[in-house]
Amino acid sequence: MQTHDTVSAMQQLARETHAAGKTLGFVPTMGALHQGHLDLIKLAATKADVVVVSIFVNPTQFGPNEDFDRYPRALEADLELCEGAGAHHVFLPTKDTIYPEGYSTYIEEQSVAAPLEGESRPAFFRGVTTVVAKLFNIVQPDIAVFGQKDAQQLAVVRKMVTDLHIPVEIVAGPTTRDTDGLALSSRNAYLTNSQREGARAIPQTLEKIKAMVDAGERRAERLVAETTHLLADERRIRVIYVAVVDPTTMKKQTDVEPGNSLLAVAAWLDQTRLIDNTLL
Ligand code: PAF
Repeated sequence: MQTHDTVSAMQQLARETHAAGKTLGFVPTMGALHQGHLDLIKLAATKADVVVVSIFVNPTQFGPNEDFDRYPRALEADLELCEGAGAHHVFLPTKDTIYPEGYSTYIEEQSVAAPLEGESRPAFFRGVTTVVAKLFNIVQPDIAVFGQKDAQQLAVVRKMVTDLHIPVEIVAGPTTRDTDGLALSSRNAYLTNSQREGARAIPQTLEKIKAMVDAGERRAERLVAETTHLLADERRIRVIYVAVVDPTTMKKQTDVEPGNSLLAVAAWLDQTRLIDNTLL
């Protein structure tokens, strides 16, 4: 496995890979890698000949009062994990490479990005779409893998790729869960053992709601109310939003369409912001 830190090295790699008739798969990350990332890397390796992972804690997707400074960073461990999961190249740009002095161009998707995370974290998707478009131009992958855990991010990236005619196939990787059901996230590192116990209420609630849908409940209002009610039983949790949405447009639905509805949840667990979702 090789590491690179310049745009020209990555573009050269893309030229060589494509000239050899091989495909390039890409997994963008912010590091602090866990099994969920490794599953995305393994998925990329089943779909492309050469696998590139990027590790870059992107400052533009953090709000002024968010956790950019304390976001977990673990480069040495990350590199070992990348290699173990089958990555061939890791791109490690500096902030100045991605956002040089005087940088002033941003990509903003204005529909799918508007509700849910977009409402509660106004700068977030503009930062994500900007950095992902830049990384796509640098890495020039044929396919890119994003986790279903960040369902709205996945939908926003798909919309950007369509709207801007970016020739990258977006592949969704299933959410990886710990044995206690909690969706893996780099931010889980912030949780104490007792907070983790509280956080389990989120996946448990999603499962109960999914069971209600499987038993025939279709009314989104009823499902949202029940989700909110179940989460309120855990005193450490403060709900930010609960919604039943179309997984492509993120628009609210009044009735669940089995196979085409997403229950999305964001909540504070004390000081840690957690998101999770399930397809209904
Ligand atoms: O999901 C993430 O880790 C980030 O939002 C991404 C896609 C790497 C962009 O910085």
